[in-house]
Amino acid sequence: MVNKMSEKQISIVIPTYQEVENIPLIAQEIDSVLSNENYEVIFVDDDSQDGSFDAVTKLAHELPARIIVRTEERGLSTAVIRGIEEAQGKYVVVMDCDLSHPASAIPHMVEKLKTDEADFVVGSRYVEGGSFDEDWGFFRLLNSKVATWLALPLCHVKDPMSGFFSFERGRLESTSELAPTGYKIGLEIMVKGEFSKPAEQPIHFKDREFGESKLDFKEQLLYLKHLRRLYTFKFPTASEFMQFGLVGGTGFIVDSLIYFTLQLFFGLNHTMARAISFWPAVTWNWFWNRTVTFTHREKSRKLTQWISFVSTSFFGFAINFGSYKMLTEHVPFFMENQFAAFIIGVILGMGFNFMMARVFVFKPLNESIENEVRHHK
Ligand code: GDD
Ligand code: MN
Repeated sequence: MVNKMSEKQISIVIPTYQEVENIPLIAQEIDSVLSNENYEVIFVDDDSQDGSFDAVTKLAHELPARIIVRTEERGLSTAVIRGIEEAQGKYVVVMDCDLSHPASAIPHMVEKLKTDEADFVVGSRYVEGGSFDEDWGFFRLLNSKVATWLALPLCHVKDPMSGFFSFERGRLESTSELAPTGYKIGLEIMVKGEFSKPAEQPIHFKDREFGESKLDFKEQLLYLKHLRRLYTFKFPTASEFMQFGLVGGTGFIVDSLIYFTLQLFFGLNHTMARAISFWPAVTWNWFWNRTVTFTHREKSRKLTQWISFVSTSFFGFAINFGSYKMLTEHVPFFMENQFAAFIIGVILGMGFNFMMARVFVFKPLNESIENEVRHHK
C-alpha cells in the first residue's frame, strides 16, 4: 500500500448481496493488480446477513476495503449509486463481486481515462479479444443479444449491458438525475451523464462459481421500461414519434380486425363496417398515446382530450386521403404506383396527427416539471 494520506486515485465500487465466499477472493485479486496504486474498495451490501460484514472487517486489517450495509434500501443500481457517492477516488470502477469481471482489466481501463483516450470505459465481452464462458444456453445468448441491440442507438459501445465500467468521478455532475430502474446502471450513467467518448476494454466474462445470479424475468421487463426512458431522455421527439407510430400500427390492426369481424360475423356492409371500426381504433390510439407515448405530458380531462384527438384524427385522415387522391389523379408517377401514394398519404396524415398531438392534444407540461418527469418516470 502506498501513502495512505495522499489523494485516492481509484475507488472500486462493488455491490454485493450474499457474496460472502467471493468477497475475500475479489479483494485479493484487486490488490494483486493494484498494489502500486492508492485505491479503495467499497462493498455496498444490502444486509446480506451471511457474514459479509465480518469478512470485510477482517480484510480491512490488511487491505483498503470497507463495507456499507444498507438496511433501508435494496437493489443493485441504488447500491452502485450509493457506492459512487461514497467514493473518494479520482476514478471510479464498478464491478460485480462474483468474479465474473477480471480485476486485471482495471489498470487498462483507468489508463484509458488518464490518457483521455476515453471518458467512460466499459469492460466488454463483445469486442475483439473479449469473450465469455461457452456454456451460455441459446436463450440466454439471444436474450443478451437482443437487449444489447436495443440499447445501441443510445451509446456507442458493443456491450452496453456491462456491469463493469469506469469513469472519472468529477465528470458525473450529480447522481440525483439518475433513475435506477433495474439492473443496467452502467448504461444509465453513460447516457444520463452524457459521456461522449466511450471505449471498451476486452474482458473474459466468467460465470459465477458461488451463489446465484439475481437477474430474472421481472428485471427484463424493467429493462424495457428503462430503455424507453433513456430514449426519451436522449431523443425526445424521435422517441415520441416512434411510440406514436407503434401505437398507430397497433391501432391499424384493431381497426382491420373490427372491420372484418363486423362484415363476416355481423353481416354489415363494408361502408358501415368502415364507419364503425374507426371509433374503437381511434379510441385505442388515444388511450395508448395517453398512457405510453405522452406519459410525461399534461393529463387533461379524458373526454375533452378524446374529443380533440378524434377531431385531429379526422383532419389527419382527410390529409391522408386527400393527398392520395390528388397524387393518383394528377401525378403520372403515382397513377402507375398507387401504393407509393398510399404510403405518402399515411406519412403526411400521421405527421399531421403527430404534430397536433404534441402541441394540442397532449400539451407539454411546464418545462421544469417536464424535466423532472423525464428523469424519473
Ligand atoms: N447491494 C446489492 N443489492 N447488490 C446486488 C443486488 C442487490 O439487490 N443484486 C445483485 N447484487 C450484486 C451481486 O452480489 C453481484 O456482485 C452483482 O450485483 C451482480 O449480480 P449478479 O446476480 O451476479 O448479476 P448477473 O451476473 O446476473 O448480471 C451481471 O451481468 C450482466 C450482464 O450479463 C451484472 O453485471 C449486470 O449489471 C450485467 O448487466
Ligand atoms: Mn453475475
